Amino acid sequence: MALKKRIVDFVDVRLGIRDILQQNLTDYLLPRNINVWYTLGAVLIALFAIQFITGILLLIYYIPNTEEAFTSVQRIMNDVPFGWLIRYLHAIGANIIVLALLLHMLSVLFMSAHKTPRELTWVAGFAIFLLSLGMCLTGYLLPWSQLSFWATTVATESSAELPLIGDAVVRFLRGGAMVGQPTLGRFFALHVMGFPLIFGLLLLLHLFCVRRAGISRPPFGPKYEPRGPLTEFRHEHHDGGIPFFPNYVVKDVAVISFFLALLVAVVFFFPDLFFPPAAFEPADPFVTPPGIKPEWYFLWAYQTLKIFPSEILGLAVQGAAVAFLMLFPFLDRGPERRPAKRPVFVTCFVVGVLLFVGLSVWGHYS
Ligand code: HEM
Repeated sequence: MALKKRIVDFVDVRLGIRDILQQNLTDYLLPRNINVWYTLGAVLIALFAIQFITGILLLIYYIPNTEEAFTSVQRIMNDVPFGWLIRYLHAIGANIIVLALLLHMLSVLFMSAHKTPRELTWVAGFAIFLLSLGMCLTGYLLPWSQLSFWATTVATESSAELPLIGDAVVRFLRGGAMVGQPTLGRFFALHVMGFPLIFGLLLLLHLFCVRRAGISRPPFGPKYEPRGPLTEFRHEHHDGGIPFFPNYVVKDVAVISFFLALLVAVVFFFPDLFFPPAAFEPADPFVTPPGIKPEWYFLWAYQTLKIFPSEILGLAVQGAAVAFLMLFPFLDRGPERRPAKRPVFVTCFVVGVLLFVGLSVWGHYS
């Protein structure tokens, strides 16, 4: 015990670790009226940590080669001890992450936390969101099942409609005319190395922005006052607020546990929820399975392409919607953050969510 204290003191005198912990845990005060939606950032950190660990474990047995990819995944599922658990946690975890990402974005939007001075926090977060979808898309191909092959064929094919450069883009994405070994090679490299590296950097930027600006005060209650215009950097302090540790960490842990329970419940009770039959057959470029659909979070995009008379128009609308959302803090500039005082915004918010759900359900049954 004495030795442990001496080692801790030795390090602390030189690096001031206790000081860092105090500043960021017990002395880091959060708004008194902070609500449960602010836990979603911590939930995402926990879920991504699981994704990272299970991904590394899968790499031990996965073979990124069209001849062996499918059988290597079958081996993970059937022969490797607990391989099925690791694989299901990873594949189903990706879906739970998208759900948590959407909820995090919606809650931030509803409370207008994207507004000044948090525009950069939002943009970094949105880039993380797009990258996460990229990781889902590239990961989908890796098991080299019929679902992987045909979903990737359809997803990459839509770029062919781009004027002038369409064919070149498809060839670039696939590494050839058709989905094949070069596609698997580049998707694998991006999925396990390229995207996670950029992801890590963006996440650091996002958390840095969150910490520098300070957590926003929820825009509810009689004492809430909108902030004046921004003229210089000001960290948002919450004097008299609740300490991040232990008070808010307890709430974080409770909601993380809820999401973990959801993940484990799907893994144990509904393991095939996100795996249609085509996920259990090896890829065959000569047989198109019936009814190939993208994952649920891409169904809105899939259905939009079907609604518009030309695919290029559908792509343009999707691109515009994504760009609009990414740049939203620069367009939505007024100081008011209280939802009750923003009826137009709240109406658009509700219509937007209903449109997303409606298009997705329509895409699923069409
Ligand atoms: C891996 C993904 C992400 C992680 C780990 C993450 C993490 C966090 C954390 C820990 C916080 C502080 C606590 C909270 O408000 O929840 C936060 C706040 C925030 N996040 Fe994220 N986030 C992610 C993705 C996103 C996305 C996709 C967006 C939006 C497009 C976004 C926008 C914001 C904003 C604007 C805040 C400030 C909230 C405030 O101060 O009230 N984040 N994020």
